[in-house]
Amino acid sequence: MPNAQTDDRLIVALDVPNALKGLEIAESLGSAVSFYKIGLGMLTGGGLALANELKQEHGKRIFLDMKLFDIGNTVENAVRGLSQFDLDFLTVHGDTHVVRAAKEGAAGTDLKILAVTILTSLNRADLDAGLIRNGDMEELVLERAAKAFDAGADGVIASPQEARGIRALSESKGRLIVTPGVRPTGSDVGDQKRIATPSQAIANGADHIVVGRPIVKAPSPVEAAQAILSELS
Ligand code: C5P
Repeated sequence: MPNAQTDDRLIVALDVPNALKGLEIAESLGSAVSFYKIGLGMLTGGGLALANELKQEHGKRIFLDMKLFDIGNTVENAVRGLSQFDLDFLTVHGDTHVVRAAKEGAAGTDLKILAVTILTSLNRADLDAGLIRNGDMEELVLERAAKAFDAGADGVIASPQEARGIRALSESKGRLIVTPGVRPTGSDVGDQKRIATPSQAIANGADHIVVGRPIVKAPSPVEAAQAILSELS
C-alpha cells in the first residue's frame, strides 16, 4: 500500500524506453513517490506490465497517458479493454465525441478519464502550423476544457499557466486539473513552452503536477523528487 505520508499531488512521468528502467527509477524513488505516469514511449517496452507491477506489488497509483483519439466506437473499445487493468487515470484528447466514448468504455470502473486540452509543448505558432483556428491560447484551452467537462471528463490536462482560468469555470467544480509543463526553478525547460514551478502550478488550482525529466534525468532522482515535495509542503 502507498505510504500514507506520501504526497500524491506529485506524479512522476516514467519517460524511459522500457519497463526495466522504469522499475529501477520507481525503486530508487521508493516511498517518496506514490503516483506514476506511464506513456506512449514505453508502450512497446512493457509499459502495461510495469503499470500492473507498480500497482499490484508496490501499491502505487497509475496514470496511463495514451492520449487516445479516434472514432468513438474505437475509443470506447480501447478504453473498455484498458479498464481491465487496475489504472487510476487515462488520457484521451478533449474532443467531445472522444471524451463521451471514453466515459462509455470506462463505465462501471473507477478509471478517471482526463481530457487533453492543448499540449503544453505547443504555442500559438504551432497551432497556426496545425491549422487550429485563431484565438488566444488560453481562450482556446478554456473552451476545450469546458467542452470536455460538459462531455463528462473527470478532469483535464493543461498547462499550469491555464489552471487558474480552468478552476474558475463553473464546469470544473469537482473535476481534476492535472498539469505537466512543470519546472522547478533553474531546471532545464526542454521542449516545454507553457511552464510554471511546482508551487505555482498548485497555487493556480492544479490537483496534481506531472514531472518527468527534472526527476528522471536528475543525478539523484530521489533528491529531485524530495526537493519538489518540500516545495509543495
Ligand atoms: O519531462 P517533462 O516533465 O516535460 O514531462 C512531461 C510529461 O507530461 C511527458 O510525459 C509528456 O508526454 C506529458 N504531457 C505534456 N503535455 C500534455 C500532456 C502530457 O507534456 N499536454
